[in-house]
Amino acid sequence: MEFSELVKRRGMVRSFKSEKVEHEKLVKILSNAVRAPSAGHLQPWEFIVVKDDSMKQRLAEAALKQMFIAEAPVVIVTCVDTERSASRYGERGRRFYSIIDGAYASLLILLTARDLGLGACFVGAYDDEKIARILELPRHVKPIGIIPIGYPAEKPPRYERIPIEQLVHLNRYGNRVGLDKLL
Ligand SMILES: Cc1cc2nc3c(=O)[nH]c(=O)nc-3n(C[C@H](O)[C@H](O)[C@H](O)COP(=O)(O)O)c2cc1C
Repeated sequence: MEFSELVKRRGMVRSFKSEKVEHEKLVKILSNAVRAPSAGHLQPWEFIVVKDDSMKQRLAEAALKQMFIAEAPVVIVTCVDTERSASRYGERGRRFYSIIDGAYASLLILLTARDLGLGACFVGAYDDEKIARILELPRHVKPIGIIPIGYPAEKPPRYERIPIEQLVHLNRYGNRVGLDKLL
């Protein structure tokens, strides 16, 4: 799919068929995820691939009972090793860069899934402590997003975007201009 088309057609999918995700597709998703940029190229990612039904169920419960997570044949929990980021950048690495790095990798997972004809959803509403306990994460490894992936059983809803003109400022905050003024 052409890139802009892919970006436009990506949408969070919250209902999945029981059909398995092919191993090659899962590998492709993970291989693309690690192409994400990261601060200082420290690549703080740790991806927990969850296929076990009872584990998926527990994750869904810990994510404010968003049970569609358990429906997906595979769930990737993007985590970051905050110590890897802190090792070079201290607190800024631990609290800021590591999160951004995890978010970039997650976006590549979402886009790759869509490109492969799969659906996915980034779930950020969960109890950190519960997720850490379920996945046996060490304290310095922070979950960034729970991403259920599978063949979509629904067309994702399309959400309107705020008009770009309201979000773009020329040269200084508050100077909102029409896009034609960016010429
Ligand atoms: C940080 C973050 C947290 C999110 N958490 C959830 C979530 O817990 N559950 C959910 O269903 N969607 C979640 N979403 C998805 C958003 O609701 C979705 O991206 C937004 O409504 C726009 O829809 P679209 O991505 O389909 O265009 C989250 C997205 C982000 C970026």
